[in-house]
Amino acid sequence: MTLGGTLTLGGDLAVHRLGFGAMRVTGKGVWGPPPDHDTAIAVLRRAVELGIDLVDTADSYGPNVSEELIAEALHPYPGELVIATKGGLERGGPGVWTRNGRPEHLREACEGSLRRLQVDRIDLYQLHAPDPDVPYEESVGACEQLQDEGKVRHIGVSNVSVEQLEQARSIVDVVTVQNRFNLTDRASKHVLAVCERDGIGFIPWLPLAAGKLAEAGGSVAEIAERHDATAGQVALAWLLGCSHVMLPIPGTGSVAHLEENGAAAALQLTAAELSELDAAA
Ligand SMILES: NC(=O)c1ccc[n+]([C@@H]2O[C@H](COP(=O)([O-])OP(=O)(O)OC[C@H]3O[C@@H](n4cnc5c(N)ncnc54)[C@H](OP(=O)(O)O)[C@@H]3O)[C@@H](O)[C@H]2O)c1
Repeated sequence: MTLGGTLTLGGDLAVHRLGFGAMRVTGKGVWGPPPDHDTAIAVLRRAVELGIDLVDTADSYGPNVSEELIAEALHPYPGELVIATKGGLERGGPGVWTRNGRPEHLREACEGSLRRLQVDRIDLYQLHAPDPDVPYEESVGACEQLQDEGKVRHIGVSNVSVEQLEQARSIVDVVTVQNRFNLTDRASKHVLAVCERDGIGFIPWLPLAAGKLAEAGGSVAEIAERHDATAGQVALAWLLGCSHVMLPIPGTGSVAHLEENGAAAALQLTAAELSELDAAA
């Protein structure tokens, strides 16, 4: 699979531009174990077989479940595989997410991720979200310390504004930004512009969303029909065409869906179709 060509993160981590989001291999509400353990393991192994070499996860997915399944399915890891985990959110129950950017929490979270993933160093550690109760520079500073200690190779941020991104970059070298971005939600377009200008990887979460555009008669539905593709494949192909720093991480708990998503990278939309989708939000 072409998987959208490659992008080099932080000068030394070359990854294909279509990754995998491992949030969906957990239970309902991203809580607890998946409904079928063997299927979750099969999805993770198939992702790597397809050539996907960036797997996104977080300590909060499950919590712990996603990282544990990744280790069970894939450890010892192939040399090229980048596991990008995150810290900074706590879980009180299914669907409940609480920000915690306190330095002591981030240290504990990172050390837990190192243990569960069975690695000495995390290739890409992402600060999951700014915590309004903690000065952002303190949370970023905690990541810097983890990097200085060799526990983290590269640092990414997530759910940030342009101002927060710049604040983080004044403290550490930020190699990726992970924000919500898709056909129907482009609120992060200014953040994407900074990433594109400065060669920072942009990881859009919820990449498959196409909303009403995917309904009969909508642009996505029409383009999908023309290419004998699905709406989700058009959404991913559009994202990949948006920018050379774009690195979508569609998530699924199904092998069939994973394969379908992987095939989206080979879908060639015409310049006219890309412009139509650009204008369609
Ligand atoms: N940084 C953050 O704050 C943040 C927030 C949310 C997510 N994320 C990351 O981003 C990744 C992607 O986001 P996401 O999982 O929320 O959204 P997504 O990838 O856009 O969509 C996932 C949903 O679409 C379904 N799906 C996937 N492939 C499909 C296909 N080919 N056909 C039909 N349905 C399909 C999945 O269900 P099935 O399992 O049934 O396929 C799941 O319900 C996550 O896995 C996670 O790693 C990060």
